[in-house]
Amino acid sequence: MSEICNIVVLTGAGISAESGVPTFRGPDGLWEGQRVEDVATPEAFARDPDLVLDFYDQRRANLGKVEPNPAHHALGRLDAAWQGELLIVTQNVDDLHERGGAKRLLHMHGELKSGWCLACGARHPFEGKMAQRPPCPVCSASGHVRPDIVWFGEMPYRMEEIDAALSACDLFVSIGTSGAVYPAAGFVQTARHYGARTLELNLDPSEGSIFFEESRMGRAGDLVPAWVDEVLG
Ligand code: APR
Ligand code: ZN
Repeated sequence: MSEICNIVVLTGAGISAESGVPTFRGPDGLWEGQRVEDVATPEAFARDPDLVLDFYDQRRANLGKVEPNPAHHALGRLDAAWQGELLIVTQNVDDLHERGGAKRLLHMHGELKSGWCLACGARHPFEGKMAQRPPCPVCSASGHVRPDIVWFGEMPYRMEEIDAALSACDLFVSIGTSGAVYPAAGFVQTARHYGARTLELNLDPSEGSIFFEESRMGRAGDLVPAWVDEVLG
């Protein structure tokens, strides 16, 4: 594909699986043995903040033990070389895309390494443990910083930008997502509606597979570098 075109890439937990970050659904998934309602909702945070803060503290600490895999690096390579428009939208809250070189990247479900102060509203880079109730670096209030993560029932970030990119793209590629969570699960239909070609790269058929013109099944670490080679020709 040599002609310049606009690309939107959507990624989910599957792209980080080979790095050792657990996915949510399926065997050994993060939600196995963990009820979503207990850790990933505003109600859970109100009910048992220690449990929720500890859950995200552990996931944040785990980022220090994992590395980007060939799929993240391939998207970084695409980002550096692609002359057309590109937007990588990730549902992931890890930082492996950044460490793989992606720049034109947006975290629609927030980031583990970001805190959101409910006292002053500021979002700020965060390392360490929220369960220790650190003060906000902006307003100094203690005990008001929550994970900057979009929980169930909350609005994903940057939807206007994402919708604009979806309606203007020529190619939409979905990588490593089960298609179980909206609005991301609906992006393929939006892109198609506006005339984009659609491609899915996933380990096994997702809930949204039928909406894609083409689905390739396999590991992201194999499929994504091969696809990027194809695109960059
Ligand atoms: N390569 C490619 N795909 C893989 C791999 C792999 N190595 N391993 C797993 N997958 C696929 C699975 O087959 C599954 O379809 O990745 C998908 C992961 O699905 P989920 O665990 O549901 O993750 P995701 O789609 O990102 O979840 C969406 O749900 O819990 C919320 O907010 C959370 O952002 C998350 C959202
Ligand atoms: Zn503050």
